Amino acid sequence: MIVVASSNGRIGIEAAAQILRQGGTAVDAVEAGIRLVEANPEDHTVGYNGYPNILGEVELDASIMNGRTLESGAVGALKGYLHAITVARQVMDKLPHVLLVGDGASRFAAEMGNPPQPEMLLPETRTTWADRLRPDMNDADIAQIASRTDLAHWVELATDPERAKGTVNFIAQDRDGNICTGVSTSGWAWKYPGRLGDSPIIGAGNYADNRYGAAACTGMGEMAIRASTAHSLVFYLKMGLSLAEASERAMTDLCDLGGRFISVMNLIAIDKDGNHAGYSSDNGRTYIYQTPDMAECEELPRIVVPIPPRWG
Ligand code: GLY
Repeated sequence: MIVVASSNGRIGIEAAAQILRQGGTAVDAVEAGIRLVEANPEDHTVGYNGYPNILGEVELDASIMNGRTLESGAVGALKGYLHAITVARQVMDKLPHVLLVGDGASRFAAEMGNPPQPEMLLPETRTTWADRLRPDMNDADIAQIASRTDLAHWVELATDPERAKGTVNFIAQDRDGNICTGVSTSGWAWKYPGRLGDSPIIGAGNYADNRYGAAACTGMGEMAIRASTAHSLVFYLKMGLSLAEASERAMTDLCDLGGRFISVMNLIAIDKDGNHAGYSSDNGRTYIYQTPDMAECEELPRIVVPIPPRWG
C-alpha cells in the first residue's frame, strides 16, 4: 500500500494514507487527498484561488482513473464548483461517458448535488490577474476584456511559462493491489478560455493499469497531450521496461517534440509492485510518498531528464 503525490499534495497525503490504513480503496484515497489540495487557497495551481484564465475566470480540469477496470472520469473547463476531482469521479461512477467539459460539466456537477462555489478567487489573486494585463491595458480595458475579439493576442502577452506548471497528482495502491491515479488543476495561468491541458485527458496527464503501473504528469500539459506521456510510460512498463527505464523513455520522448512552445514537464509513477519514481526536466523538483505505516510523508528529489526549453 502506498500513496505517491506531487509535492503540493503534502496537505492531503495523510488523509489518503489514512483511508488505505483503514482498508479503504485507492479510488477513495486519491479523491480524499486531492480534495484537500483543491480547498487550499495557498495553492494557485489547483482548485480554489487557482490562477484564472485571461478573462479572470477560474476553469478547473481533473481526471481520475481506476486501474482495476480502466474506468475513468474527467471534467474540463469546469466553472463554479470547487471539487473538480469529485465531479470527475461522479462522471466515472454515474455516466456512460468519460469526459464532460464547460457548461455540461457544471450542469452535471449541479445535478449530482455538489455545492456551487460562485467566487473562486480571493481579492489579492484577482489583483495579480489584473496586474498581469497592465501596463498594456488600463482599468477600463480590463473591465471590458470579456467583450474583446483579440484574446489570442493577449494570451500570448499575458501567459507566463513560469506559471504553466502547476497541478496536483496522486497515485494510490490499496491493500488489494488496486491502483488509482487522480489529477486536478486550474491549468495554465491566463490561458485562453476553454483551453484544456493534459490533466483531464486520459493517457496524457493520467493513466493507471493494475497490471503494469500508473503515471501522472504536471507541467506544460500541451506537451504531455502531444506525446501521450502518462500512457506511454505505462505502455513501456507493459513492454517489460523497468520503472526507471520506462520513466526515462517517457521523458526523452518529449525531447523529440518540435514547435515553438516547449517548457517544463514532471511526472510521478509507480509500477505494479508499488515501486515509485519522480522525474522532471527541471532541477530541484521533488515528490512525496507515504505508506500506511509512516506517520508522515517523505519528500524525495526527482530525477532530472533535461528538455531544452523553447518559447515563442
Ligand atoms: N499540467 C497542467 C496543465 O497544463 O494544465
